[in-house]
Amino acid sequence: MTIPFIDLKTQYQALKPQIQDRINAVLEHGQYIMGPEVKELENKLSAYVGSKHCISVASGTEALLMSLMALGIKPGDEIVTTPFTFVATAEVMVLLGAKPIFVDIESGTCNIDASLIEAKITEKTKAIMPVSLYGQTADMDAINAIAAKHGNIPVIEDAAQSFGASYKGRKSCNLSTIGCTSFFPSKPLGCYGDGGAIFTNDDTLAQAMREIRVHGQSQRYVHTRIGVGGRMDTIQCAIVLAKLERFDWEVEQRKLIGDLYNQLLDEAGISRVNQCEDLTSVYAQYTVFTENREAIQKRLSEQGIPTAVHYPVPLNEQPAYKQLCCPDCTSIASQTAKRVMSLPMGPFLTKNDQQKIVKALSNAIKVHEKK
Ligand SMILES: Cc1ncc(COP(=O)(O)O)c(C=O)c1O
Repeated sequence: MTIPFIDLKTQYQALKPQIQDRINAVLEHGQYIMGPEVKELENKLSAYVGSKHCISVASGTEALLMSLMALGIKPGDEIVTTPFTFVATAEVMVLLGAKPIFVDIESGTCNIDASLIEAKITEKTKAIMPVSLYGQTADMDAINAIAAKHGNIPVIEDAAQSFGASYKGRKSCNLSTIGCTSFFPSKPLGCYGDGGAIFTNDDTLAQAMREIRVHGQSQRYVHTRIGVGGRMDTIQCAIVLAKLERFDWEVEQRKLIGDLYNQLLDEAGISRVNQCEDLTSVYAQYTVFTENREAIQKRLSEQGIPTAVHYPVPLNEQPAYKQLCCPDCTSIASQTAKRVMSLPMGPFLTKNDQQKIVKALSNAIKVHEKK
């Protein structure tokens, strides 16, 4: 039997009555856009992360784009970021005519190496966008300190994978000027379509983002700025509200399952993404490092164990990006991209399945080492 890579079906079964009640309530009141669930969700999410404002939006990508628009990013501006991420992180910069400045990653966590950021700051630097990859936050204190030293450069945490994670006791999404997350179905807190949210404690930015979300509208048919159609549907907000009820339990399960993977893999001598002591990951992905990746993936797949690669090519080596920036300046990201492999993960993964996965992985590594 195949182990699901992410088990959304079991989650749905566990929450079926709550999810169906929430969806039915929206169908009954009929306010499919900006219905009461939108505000209810925003209030609950801002309380959860501890931020003053939450603006729900159409996706994680829109959250990032709208954040940059609210900060007034314009052609020629530079934004310091990591190349080892999903394409949306840099895509939104390029869409606004800004230039991503890629900084290499730490080999252990795969997050941006904060110690390399300062050297990349110029007069054109208008934002820093770290990504909290695999569910573990980047070193936000170090990044915020560099931003403060250089004239309070805004820091946007791309927290698409880390909603629910903690950094030194504080919640991801509320660690810098702006935090952006995604409710893509496979994310730790997912809806059943596209969705996302922006968090900030800055009243002016929050107001700007609320206007940008509805085509730059400050009053009905008064468009005071350029915006987008960036709202999150009421039904998707209702689904997240239902899932939020059990989210703390899921985060705890993810932590226990992540800890067990750490232990089993360490015992088997398999190298994995490093978990920092004072950070709590939500393990959006559980990722190991391996040589002969394709052969090992094939072997695991034959035994009903799906795997995935996040990400096979750093963004500065992608065809659409390499002419915009230095394609060869991030050697650790390049090497890491060849070695990462994500294992099945989720709050419903059983101990038996975890043991089976690590045993199969260990055997596959041994077979391919000998060749
Ligand atoms: C790091 C990162 N940034 C941005 C996004 C974009 O989120 P969405 O798919 O909701 O647009 C994702 C989603 O995969 C992501 O993983």
